Amino acid sequence: MCGIVGYIGFRSAADVIVEGLQKLEYRGYDSFGVATSNPHLAVYKCEGKISEKFEKARELHGSIGVGHTRWATHGVPSDRNAHPHLDCTGRIAVVHNGIIENYSALTRELKERGHTFLSETDTEVVAHLIEEAYDGDLRAAVAQAITHLKGSYALLVTAEGHEEIVAARDSSPLVLGIGDQELFAASDVTPLIGYTERVVYLDDGDLATLDREGWHVYHHGTPVKRAIEHVDWDVETVRKGGFPHYMLKEIFEQPKVFYDTFHGITPESLPERYRRPSEITVVACGSSYHAGLVFKYLCESTCRIPVRAELGSEFKYFTPPLKGIVMVITQSGETADTLAALKKAKAYNCPTLAITNVLGSTVTRIADHTLYMRAGPEISVAATKSFVAQLAVLMQLVNLMSPKSGLSGSLERANSAIDEVLLQDIGRAVEICRPAEHLFYVGRGLFYPIALEGALKMKEISYIHAEGYAAGELKHGPFALLSEETPVVALCSPGDTYSIMLSNIKEMKARKAPIIGIGARGDRELIDIVDVFLPIPESHELVQLIATSVLLQQLAYQTAVALGRDVDQPRNLAKSVTVE
Ligand code: F6R
Repeated sequence: MCGIVGYIGFRSAADVIVEGLQKLEYRGYDSFGVATSNPHLAVYKCEGKISEKFEKARELHGSIGVGHTRWATHGVPSDRNAHPHLDCTGRIAVVHNGIIENYSALTRELKERGHTFLSETDTEVVAHLIEEAYDGDLRAAVAQAITHLKGSYALLVTAEGHEEIVAARDSSPLVLGIGDQELFAASDVTPLIGYTERVVYLDDGDLATLDREGWHVYHHGTPVKRAIEHVDWDVETVRKGGFPHYMLKEIFEQPKVFYDTFHGITPESLPERYRRPSEITVVACGSSYHAGLVFKYLCESTCRIPVRAELGSEFKYFTPPLKGIVMVITQSGETADTLAALKKAKAYNCPTLAITNVLGSTVTRIADHTLYMRAGPEISVAATKSFVAQLAVLMQLVNLMSPKSGLSGSLERANSAIDEVLLQDIGRAVEICRPAEHLFYVGRGLFYPIALEGALKMKEISYIHAEGYAAGELKHGPFALLSEETPVVALCSPGDTYSIMLSNIKEMKARKAPIIGIGARGDRELIDIVDVFLPIPESHELVQLIATSVLLQQLAYQTAVALGRDVDQPRNLAKSVTVE
């Protein structure tokens, strides 16, 4: 939540920061702001999206600056609550991602000592604390100020007449970009792409200084060396490449993403200790949790290893008895609930395995071992290619745990199956969904998590209320809601559950619900009972599962576009949920 960018170099800082914040907008987009020092501090901040209102921010002069794009936690989205926040003198500017948990007490104390507050945010205390400690040494003042903070922060600070940015991190991501005669700091590497491939991931407890001479890192006050790492993400990966939305571009990238990820996990990727655990506990949130549920079904039936899938937000407070390994799944590697669960698993001395898309992300620093998805940057808020990449890792994992399953060969056709559904005309299904206020998605077995994921995708970007259910559960209550105005998307692929799914569909049909049926091409029995039939290729069940996931992404996308929604940045959401 919230994206921050800092720049010191020879270019217009405002230009670099505005461009960088637009790439970070997926982290939050209710307000934004930029401060540059030239040598006087100039600030522009306002409510709204930076991609729509950036012109004035770009007028700020100077080659040093910091900026922020916000996802409100404390205080409504407004000009006043937008970052940067300043101290009483207006000479110190702070941008912050995270939450200062003890800000109420600090605000009270600072007010008693005469400070004036202009916002309702938790961040403003930081500017006033730095002000109290500042005697011309910005690094020392920031170091002193952060000793008072409880909570999480990635901070960038600059001060008038001071050719320096000070960065500090605790439990919120922060990366430095090392260019030629220029330095960057940002919440993740996307703003750096196109400027430099050399990055330094800061650790919790790190404080860094960026000035005209270079950069230095201190860990809890002691100078430390941090390795420069190489990022090879291409600049095209963060552009729309001719697509109207990032989401559509990312949907279309999936054949390659699946192939690269599936083949990127080799026997060498998985150390022996993770191969035959007595039990596996999977922890994740949102779409990543749904991928975890697919793994549960698949691993239990194929490897006969008990798997429990838990929500990150629950796990921290209601930890089950743990045996075997704990595996966390997180596209961003920064989801606070997932990280909290991982730390808890470590406290229980369980071997931990992470699956993530982002090199150097926090999860990779905590987990004992990491498997990487190869999805490239996912900019659109809704998870698409990262979900399919998670499935690719998890299916390969099952394959490695149970090599005789032959899964590897069965999945060779997955990319062409994705290609096939990408080109399908789903206009009639969109016409059914578009006017609906409520939708049900139903599936059984492996397809139950896909129903959950399809419903999540639809509700988050179209704002239509959509519920995913195990098909057999509908008659235990939700049947009361079925009518000709509540369409049902039924996932009905051949397999053990096929006949019972057909019966369930007939029961729903008898309650007049319009049915969009997804099943194998040419399935006459299904075609005859549904209102709209969407075919997936006749293939292995797992290939059909992937194809169905992609089809449901398309259904959500096209419905949201038809409704005129902001597909890439749906209301009230942010991509990286770095607060619990
Ligand atoms: C939905 C979506 C979210 C994320 C969830 C976890 O489209 O994107 O539900 O899946 O916030 O995020 P990660 O995987 O980054 O931990």
